[in-house]
Amino acid sequence: MEKPRHFLSLLDVSQKELSELLAMSARVKKNPKKFSRSLEGKTLAMLFQKTSTRTRVSFEAGMTQLGGHAIFLDWRATNFTRGAIKDEILSISRYVDAIMFRAYKNSDMVEAANVSTVPLINGLDNLWHPCQALADLLTIKEKTKKPLSKTTVAFVGDGNNVCNSLIVGCAMLGIHMRVGTPEGYEPYGKAVEFGKKKNCLKLFRSAEDAVEGADFAYTDTWISMGEENERKERLHAFQDYRVTPHLLGNRFFMHCLPAHIGEEVTREVLDSKNSIIYGQAENRLHAQKALLVWLLK
Ligand code: CP
Ligand code: NVA
Repeated sequence: MEKPRHFLSLLDVSQKELSELLAMSARVKKNPKKFSRSLEGKTLAMLFQKTSTRTRVSFEAGMTQLGGHAIFLDWRATNFTRGAIKDEILSISRYVDAIMFRAYKNSDMVEAANVSTVPLINGLDNLWHPCQALADLLTIKEKTKKPLSKTTVAFVGDGNNVCNSLIVGCAMLGIHMRVGTPEGYEPYGKAVEFGKKKNCLKLFRSAEDAVEGADFAYTDTWISMGEENERKERLHAFQDYRVTPHLLGNRFFMHCLPAHIGEEVTREVLDSKNSIIYGQAENRLHAQKALLVWLLK
């Protein structure tokens, strides 16, 4: 049997495919009616090991808007808690046309993808958040006043899943990224290697250096889901990486949300005129609708 096309990270698509996906996202956003029957009769299973607001609602609403249906599966209420990932995924694969999975460990994501007979979409794991990156790139493309090759995005704080995916996506589009993290919290090696190979990534030790000359300043929580027991040392390590009005200056502010107010960012920044966080959240919907149509076409 032919292997289905999965979307575990942006490294699963070519540069050309990423550009096509973003162009399609813009078309879906502009003219949603045109796509209202694109996935008629299709079902998406949405499997969550972790909590979610945006990912769950945007995928579920997206499937409805495409004429399909989505099933929400809280891991804890399923027999994934008792059975093997292989048996459970192979069973679900017989019922639905695609699976979206939010996992703690990337190894669980890969294990699920290795057996799934339908396309599997990574809805976040410890290493990647590729659906977030699709929405982020769509947002950057909409907002930048410069050609992409002259656009610079700074990411400050934790070199986490959101940062890793953004590095790969920006490098594919020729957008420059400047990442500022404390020692020991640098982004994932595979993402760094990709960004550097494309000459689109610079790493810094301070938030001030990272934002220099940037058009966008992006941050995310210092304590991702699953890292709660590291709270004390993380709050200490990241104390100089908070995005304040002073650090932001006149750059656009981005955050995948949920924000931990008073930690990585202040309320003032979230509410400032330069903040584009809700447009970013909205773009999850449009980008994922395009992704679903593209994967299931
Ligand atoms: N940005 C994001 O993935 O949000 P949720 O965790 O609420 O889904
Ligand atoms: N880095 C965060 C992103 C949440 C959308 C986490 O993994 O918890």
